[in-house]
Amino acid sequence: MTAFGVGEPGRAGEQISLYTGNANPALARKIARYLGVPLGRCEVFEFANEDIFVKILDNVRERDVFLIQPTCSPVQKSIMELLIMIDAFKRASAGRITAVVPYYAYGRSDKKDQPRVPITARLIADMISVAGADRVLALDLHQGQIQGFFNIPVDELTAIHLLSNYFIKKQIQDMVVVSPDLGYAKRARAFAELLDAPLAIVEKRRVGNSDRAELLNVIGEVRGRRAIVVDDEIVTGGTLMETVRALQREGVAEIFACATHGVLSDPAVDRFRESALEEIVITDTVPLPPAKQFRRIKVLSVAPLIGEAISRIHHGESVGALFSSEMQLVQEMLLWDEEGAQDEDERSRPGRERDIPAPASPVA
Ligand code: R5P
Repeated sequence: MTAFGVGEPGRAGEQISLYTGNANPALARKIARYLGVPLGRCEVFEFANEDIFVKILDNVRERDVFLIQPTCSPVQKSIMELLIMIDAFKRASAGRITAVVPYYAYGRSDKKDQPRVPITARLIADMISVAGADRVLALDLHQGQIQGFFNIPVDELTAIHLLSNYFIKKQIQDMVVVSPDLGYAKRARAFAELLDAPLAIVEKRRVGNSDRAELLNVIGEVRGRRAIVVDDEIVTGGTLMETVRALQREGVAEIFACATHGVLSDPAVDRFRESALEEIVITDTVPLPPAKQFRRIKVLSVAPLIGEAISRIHHGESVGALFSSEMQLVQEMLLWDEEGAQDEDERSRPGRERDIPAPASPVA
């Protein structure tokens, strides 16, 4: 047995029922491939009046259902699909429903930090619970405290080991890890420790409620070093670009960036193309459409991490090891992804059949 169950396809057994909405079916297919179970069949589509219709096409009575649906673009639709699918599973008498939400939208709205504003991250948590989810599996929430917005169990995974291991393998000399704001400093510190590198922090002040941010100064020694900017998400790339400019002013040698969630709303990718960034490393919690893919964006898959967590939750095993930096485990995950990518290339050649069927019906 390997550190995290690779090599035992089907270990999860027949009792896991894996489903996906339309948000990120490619990730769901990869998780299914990791677990060695097929994706369940369902219909999820929108009527002309924009009402969403859901029908589960399998018997899920008393089943352990895992519904994979990051609340990514189109955000409002992804959220509604998630809620309506949970309701459908509840009314179909599923035994347990786990909402697997690799990217949690509205995470930035997590406190009442000015008069008359909502706490939308809490509202979404309430909606997921009221819809009928029994537990939540998330990944790098904008703030860990969002876990406490739920009164059901939440397992929050992190991609920090996957990302740090990628940079360790690159053997970059004279690294410095850079947090693009004070709010992320604690997690950037943990990332820096994994890389055995010093930490620098860019002090940032947001301008109003818009997506534009204004940077102030760099705290820490960065001159002549190779900077790795780390964040939980990249949305418009505004924060990252201002961080890049601040670091260039301070005389860094090279700049890399990484984040768990590559939301990459416009004009993020155009900004990257014009920037001096060596490489941007993200994960596949949010799909990256072909038009946004380019040479300097590297996507690591969180499928084995989420798949392993699903397997352990299903079997009542600890998910604690997934939070550790066990090198063997993380390296196996990176290898699984690389081998999987080769398999996918093979399968996409004419004349080859896919072993994990795409969802039978328009989850599209
Ligand atoms: C902010 O608190 C977050 O950690 C990210 O820095 C922010 O969401 C990135 O947004 P953008 O790419 O639009 O600047």
